[in-house]
Amino acid sequence: MNPLSGTTLRAFLSAVQIQERVAALGQQLTHDYGGTNALHLIGVLKGAWVFLADLVRQVDLPVTCDFIGVSSYGKRTVNSGVVRLTLDLAEPIADLEVVLVEDIVDTGLTMRFLLETLSLRNPRSLRTCTLLDKPSRRIVPFTPDYVGFTIPDYFVVGYGLDLAGAYRHLPYIAICRPSDSSEETAL
Ligand code: PRP
Repeated sequence: MNPLSGTTLRAFLSAVQIQERVAALGQQLTHDYGGTNALHLIGVLKGAWVFLADLVRQVDLPVTCDFIGVSSYGKRTVNSGVVRLTLDLAEPIADLEVVLVEDIVDTGLTMRFLLETLSLRNPRSLRTCTLLDKPSRRIVPFTPDYVGFTIPDYFVVGYGLDLAGAYRHLPYIAICRPSDSSEETAL
């Protein structure tokens, strides 16, 4: 069955709201890392590439970027509980000021896996930045250092977030629900 059929999108965070918040996060990083030599942003693929592309342009510091790929959801909407590395970093991170950039933190399993994995590579510092945080869904304790929006337990798509690979290109974030839900307003 096509997972996109029978789903409806309802507006949640507009492109303007997102851009304002991303600009504020960029200013915060610029302030917090102003005394360091350089900031190294690591985007967690696939979901974070849109957020990272906008965030890096709001950081007024020497900044470098890399990417790491993980997957735990596949084409499902429920975390499998098993985090897989699908792409490793291109460069070492020893002695770098690293910020891991995520689109969303849900159970916390992905971030726990990445923090455990990357801390073994001896970065000078290692912090986390997520556009969206769903603390009500945590399975393991985890608090991001930088959060764009704290949200309820909605299944959201757009701005990098997907449903079975679709909707990542949307410039806004929408709530995705079965279209037979009575309170829906289609976009
Ligand atoms: C999503 C998201 C995070 C992770 C968060 O990735 O991008 O990496 O889930 O969930 P958690 O806190 O429950 O671990 P997904 O596996 O959907 O892959 P994608 O980024 O390629 O869409």
